[in-house]
Amino acid sequence: MAFCKTIRLITVLTVSLAMMATAARAQHQSGGNPTRYESKDRDQWQLPEKVVSLLELKEGMVVADIGSSSGYFSRRFSVAVGNSGRALAVDLDTVALGWLAAKARELGLDNLETIRAEADDPHLPAGKVDLIFFCNSLHHISNRVEYLQKLKESLAPGGRVAIVDFFKKKLPVGPKGLDHKLSWSVVYNALRDAGYRTVREPQGLPYQYFIIARPN
Ligand SMILES: C[S@@+](CC[C@H](N)C(=O)[O-])C[C@H]1O[C@@H](n2cnc3c(N)ncnc32)[C@H](O)[C@@H]1O
Repeated sequence: MAFCKTIRLITVLTVSLAMMATAARAQHQSGGNPTRYESKDRDQWQLPEKVVSLLELKEGMVVADIGSSSGYFSRRFSVAVGNSGRALAVDLDTVALGWLAAKARELGLDNLETIRAEADDPHLPAGKVDLIFFCNSLHHISNRVEYLQKLKESLAPGGRVAIVDFFKKKLPVGPKGLDHKLSWSVVYNALRDAGYRTVREPQGLPYQYFIIARPN
């Protein structure tokens, strides 16, 4: 009897600990707020419509948004590529991806798919993606050159990579610490070392640089 009670107690404790760990991970993943990159005032400096238009997306294209979080950009890509295209929202954060999947259903964005990435693998389809986009997310990738090299396998012929990221200095918006920002030259050199050439650097974002590159 005492043995059964002990087993039951251990089971209850194990399940409770697992639930606490899951809750803690969810809290950590989105900082407890899956929509923290969705603030209204962001539009004023992020200029999302300008960014999307500078990317020159066409109907039917496949666009991957790496580190999409709640899909601030993925949702716009979904609209820009139309029903025959696909927007792939890629993140490690299952809480943000869950929020985005529900939002996409609510908005009828049937061509938006969420993909749960691994730290070193975005799980993109091979040879199919016309644009791979990073906004304020490349600093999270540790082996950047290797990662960018591997991304070439996912690109369709003529495919591009685009990176939007904060200037590495104190700014009124974005992350406070400089360690969450990559300087333009670090990104430029990583692209070069991974075998890309810069094709365009659109100007006009107040706090961020913008690099569009293609494989050599
Ligand atoms: C600062 S947020 C940027 C969110 C989004 N790009 C935007 O502009 O609103 C960075 C995101 O990158 C995600 N992330 C971190 N490491 C990642 C990885 N290895 N692969 C995919 N996403 C990653 C984080 O979970 C987080 O959602």
